[in-house]
Amino acid sequence: MVVNLRGRDFISTQEWTREELEAVLKLAMELKDKKRKEIPHRLLEGKTLFMLFYNASLRTRNSFETGIFELGGQGIYLQPGAVYTPALKGEEIAYTTERISDVARVLSRYGHAIAIRIYGKPVQWVYGKGDRIVREFAHWADIPVINMEDDIYHPCQAMADVMTAIEHKGRLEGKKVVVSWAYSAGVKPVAVPQSAILAFTRFGADVVLAHPKGLELDPKIVDMARQNADEFGGSFEISYDMNEAFEGADIVYPKSWGSLKFMPPNVPEVDKEGMINLMNQYKDWICDQEKIDRAKSDVIYMHCLPADRGMEVTDDVIDGPHSVVFDEAENRLHVQKAIMAYVMGGV
Ligand code: CP
Repeated sequence: MVVNLRGRDFISTQEWTREELEAVLKLAMELKDKKRKEIPHRLLEGKTLFMLFYNASLRTRNSFETGIFELGGQGIYLQPGAVYTPALKGEEIAYTTERISDVARVLSRYGHAIAIRIYGKPVQWVYGKGDRIVREFAHWADIPVINMEDDIYHPCQAMADVMTAIEHKGRLEGKKVVVSWAYSAGVKPVAVPQSAILAFTRFGADVVLAHPKGLELDPKIVDMARQNADEFGGSFEISYDMNEAFEGADIVYPKSWGSLKFMPPNVPEVDKEGMINLMNQYKDWICDQEKIDRAKSDVIYMHCLPADRGMEVTDDVIDGPHSVVFDEAENRLHVQKAIMAYVMGGV
């Protein structure tokens, strides 16, 4: 099917139709094949992607930068502080920040897309503020904005996850996908599990979200996942027992996230100590071989990486035969090339 995504922002998978997401996956698979066969695919010759990182990254930065290069364009890395830090109206500091409306319009005069990563400390862990900033850029920019992970969504990761799952399992209808919380001593955002439950329900899977009490995801996102399941013929359930959830699973995706209960606006200031005290009660929520043995014999183990080995997962599982984490990391490249090619006018 022909889709026209030129100029569109990509902030969450929910804002694109299933057909549009399928077109991205199809192109991503074609581009993956072309790269393997060394067939040139310079769809964005001479085009520029600005990449604004408020947070650290290995995969996202290097897959976007490599991707735009392979498409014939260039990526420019922007780090707040090295450029005047883009800020919302009312949060400006003289000659230190620059209002987002100005930054977005200036970059629109030079290049062809702006990609942004922002969550956690740069927005004082105020849940939703990172997403608001990405959308403020999208409002003012004349060029597409791509979300490289904010505090609600990580749509590029979700698309790479779905692509990887389809490569290993075929169509996702009737497949049991377990997105589970796992222990970590650090505090991670909720964007990955939220995007995973939205994307897998969008592709018709039977999704089980598993977590201890107190580590609930955003109820609005959970409602969207339920609606997706109704619309696309899958199912969505919540479990408070990791062992039970893993029973008969085709795909398991155990990873850590922090508790929204301890983040503003639910509390005046982020309470990391409270969050860590809560999470420390659940150190047994680790993906080990015993849990993998509860799933189907051909289960795949997924993780967006970076993984906290010995906390979220044991070495034998992440390095073992069920693990597809490096396919997942690789597919970030192919899927993002497809997204860029579509929104930046390459197809
Ligand atoms: N999965 C992911 O987004 O990795 P990075 O934080 O390294 O970009």
